[in-house]
Amino acid sequence: MRGKLITLEGIDGSGKSTVAKKLQENPEITAFEPVFTREPTRGTLTGTAVEKAIQSNTDQLAELFLFTADHAEHLAKLVKPALENGKTVISDRYSDSRYAYQGITLKKYLENPLEWIKNLHRSWTVVPDLTFLFDIRPEISVERCGRRGYQSKFEKIDFLRGVREIFLRLADEEPDRFIVIDASQPPQEIEMEVTEEVLEFLRRY
Ligand code: TMP
Repeated sequence: MRGKLITLEGIDGSGKSTVAKKLQENPEITAFEPVFTREPTRGTLTGTAVEKAIQSNTDQLAELFLFTADHAEHLAKLVKPALENGKTVISDRYSDSRYAYQGITLKKYLENPLEWIKNLHRSWTVVPDLTFLFDIRPEISVERCGRRGYQSKFEKIDFLRGVREIFLRLADEEPDRFIVIDASQPPQEIEMEVTEEVLEFLRRY
């Protein structure tokens, strides 16, 4: 049987990567031997290209294709083989990040960037079985980013407001796939809520 794909999504500073780390350390979860991964990928040709693009003034359309190339490579080399082996894959960011972030950055190029980017993925991507959306107001998330000293060109409040809106719209459109987490709660509560939901999901299959 094909394995299941779980993704973690949210704006910068939403705390999803911290939760991803906690999930990796939780023996109840690791007992299911899930494969933990992320986008952009790390240590790959495409992931390195994305990393360089993010840190420079790269054209937004070029950036979309780099992120998408990285997704293709991620799918081909890791996600699909793991799922075919019956493994559960848990990815920190995935296609919805493209829909939400590039859905905003490409506004100046395209009339309906969100639909355009979704169409670009259709027929070759693997749609997640379960997606956690770590939802938080950008005012709070940017404050968190400041504290950890991380500077991304995507960490601007107005920009993140638009990204958050798209994430919420995506969650509204697919209520069976998305679980929206209130990421303004204390970290332990978020961790507990997500861990319980993941375990319930894993035990069901
Ligand atoms: P990270 O902080 O999760 O490493 O992601 C790096 C940045 O790239 C973050 O600001 C979100 C952004 N991003 C996109 O704009 N599009 C994408 O498809 C992905 C995966 C990330």
